[in-house]
Amino acid sequence: MPTTQSSLIKTKKVTQSRISEIDFNNLNFGKVFSDHMFIADYKNGEWVDAEIMPYGQVQMSPATSALHYGQSIFEGMKAYKNDKGEVLLFRPFENYKRINISADRMAMPTIPQAIFMEGLKQLVKLDSQWVPTTEGASLYIRPFLVGTDEYIGVKPSDEYRFYIITAPGGAYYTEPVKVLVETNFIRAVEGGVGFVKASGNYGRSLYPTRLAQQRGYHQIVWTDARNHRYLEESGTMNLMFVIDDVLITPPLGDTILAGITRDSVLTLARDWHMKVQERKISIDEVIDAHNRETLQEAFGTGTAATIAHISLIGFEGKDYQLPPVENRIFSHRVSKELDNIRTGKAEDKHNWMYKI
Ligand code: COI
Repeated sequence: MPTTQSSLIKTKKVTQSRISEIDFNNLNFGKVFSDHMFIADYKNGEWVDAEIMPYGQVQMSPATSALHYGQSIFEGMKAYKNDKGEVLLFRPFENYKRINISADRMAMPTIPQAIFMEGLKQLVKLDSQWVPTTEGASLYIRPFLVGTDEYIGVKPSDEYRFYIITAPGGAYYTEPVKVLVETNFIRAVEGGVGFVKASGNYGRSLYPTRLAQQRGYHQIVWTDARNHRYLEESGTMNLMFVIDDVLITPPLGDTILAGITRDSVLTLARDWHMKVQERKISIDEVIDAHNRETLQEAFGTGTAATIAHISLIGFEGKDYQLPPVENRIFSHRVSKELDNIRTGKAEDKHNWMYKI
């Protein structure tokens, strides 16, 4: 296996790429991984051994602390190609900032910018052939940090491993989403960890989501823990509504992830002089708007989900069919604009794209 040393990152390349086995015209989300991965270890208070190596199995002790007490956080980001074949990352510094907010809250060490950004750049550069050019596809990038102490006492781990793996993929949701408003289970509460990308936030969602899926919905919409009236997030996405030409989204706080796509959509809406409100929105308000025919659009935003139209909302035993997806002006416009910015077809006014 050829090994090279580039800045602080050692690189061991695969001897034979797997890329010819991949059907880039039939990519699902998150099942196929590129040739290489990046790892760096945190030991004795220092980041050491940053390395790119062939993607593959890792060995770990069954006593690895993250497996027991959930010191495990992650990010989701994407790389695209423009018409010249150059590879561009979408707002990577936002992911860098957010993983360290998660790290702080979970009593984990923060990751230095040089490790995060150099690891990311060199990995994606090395596997640039894996960045798809097919419509709607991209290279999904999953940085994650886990506690690695071999110890089952409950305390923050002393040692950690930071990984980056990448996966070429298509849309996360392949059709408009039917959601059920959850009024029994809770995702997050003030003072909790709902605002960070902790693995446990996703684990706890699986059982209520499965119950909703057994009833024919794709996802649930979380409501506030106290009254189950105010809408928070849906599955893997932030939530947005267009009512009476106003874009409304729940405000950030302890219980809602500060989505990077959420921020990008709000920024574009403001650029276009649309009225934007980040404020509490109750299910009663949404149903009332639906009944008055002023609810024009409902959609989720997320890195994996991109812009996911919501076609139906279930609440207290009743299903509310939302306006036809084809008639939704804002979500189509913003989705197109984001695609165009990411692939270099529209002006990148906010300097969101980072060329590798
Ligand atoms: C993302 O959108 O990147 C996410 O992390 C959601 C997910 C697939 C868990």
